[in-house]
Amino acid sequence: MIESSDLRVRRIPLNHGAGQMPALGFGTLIPDPAVTITATRDALQAGFRHFDCAERYGNEREVGSALQAALAAGEIAREDIFVTTKVWNSNHRPERVELAFRASLERLGLNYLDLYLVHTPFAFQPGDDQDPRDQNGNVLYDHDVTLLDTWKAMETLVDHGKCRAIGLSDIGLDDLKPIYESARIQPAVVQVESHPYLPEAELLEFCNEKGIVFLAFAPLGHGIKPGLLEDPVISAIAARAGKTPAQVLLAWAVQRGTAVLTTPRTAARARENFDISALPEDALDEINRIQTRQRLNQVVKTGIPGFIAKGA
Ligand SMILES: NC(=O)c1ccc[n+]([C@@H]2O[C@H](COP(=O)([O-])OP(=O)(O)OC[C@H]3O[C@@H](n4cnc5c(N)ncnc54)[C@H](OP(=O)(O)O)[C@@H]3O)[C@@H](O)[C@H]2O)c1
Repeated sequence: MIESSDLRVRRIPLNHGAGQMPALGFGTLIPDPAVTITATRDALQAGFRHFDCAERYGNEREVGSALQAALAAGEIAREDIFVTTKVWNSNHRPERVELAFRASLERLGLNYLDLYLVHTPFAFQPGDDQDPRDQNGNVLYDHDVTLLDTWKAMETLVDHGKCRAIGLSDIGLDDLKPIYESARIQPAVVQVESHPYLPEAELLEFCNEKGIVFLAFAPLGHGIKPGLLEDPVISAIAARAGKTPAQVLLAWAVQRGTAVLTTPRTAARARENFDISALPEDALDEINRIQTRQRLNQVVKTGIPGFIAKGA
């Protein structure tokens, strides 16, 4: 890791020399297109340089337009920003992976990606319906493609140079290990839900051992209250440190060696969430001792994309 006492600018090198990921990232899971544009612009202005997108979020064009505006104005250069997007479950067939990748690149208005992720390990019926269901509302899975088939198509994208690194998301150790062992190009990043109520210690240890960047989403527990933002341990540390609970949760994530994604939607929140600083060791220990356990996204266990309402 590139150690920096300034957590805001810490960068983590990716395996295979595929660049460095800014540890503090901005997530673009924002349903409203207009808010996507303003929030992405505000995040850039606050200092965020890592942008996490997905074809599933339906707003790559809006994220792209905010990034393009900053690039055109000379506020940033392409190499200053780290852009990720993800292939959705209905595009797992190898012949669909490159098409999905090119479509995302076109919508973002970029000519390469820093990172492309398989959004979940679950393949859905191939096609343009992102949420295919039978008459009873059950998800239609695709049993004729394996995660390894999809992974090989991801490796080809790296070979072609349009994508610097590849990784997985919403995955547990049981599915990650076989890919790691069979891959020609190992996953550079694993993006999963993680926060003090879901530390994922075993997965983090595996990632550290293998040089895979562990990228946490839902660091604020999706902002759900009551929840992490009102946890008494977090609130007490925030009061002592003169920080907000959100800043404490984000600092903890970066200090434990992970990268982290957060989704502030206003300029004030973007400035708040970017303005993190190191917590003392005793505060980190206190957070590590929190006993509450909670998983907010069941997708990793079920494959059912419950985190976005059907039709969203
Ligand atoms: N791979 C996956 O399956 C997956 C799943 C989920 C998310 N993600 C990624 O992870 C990113 C992070 O999303 P998240 O929901 O997990 O982020 P999060 O930061 O844990 O939660 C965002 C929520 O927290 C609130 N919030 C943000 N800053 C705050 C602050 N300073 N104080 C109080 N509340 C605050 C926001 O409220 P307001 O709405 O009021 O601003 C928003 O509702 C997503 O955008 C996406 O890129 C990936």
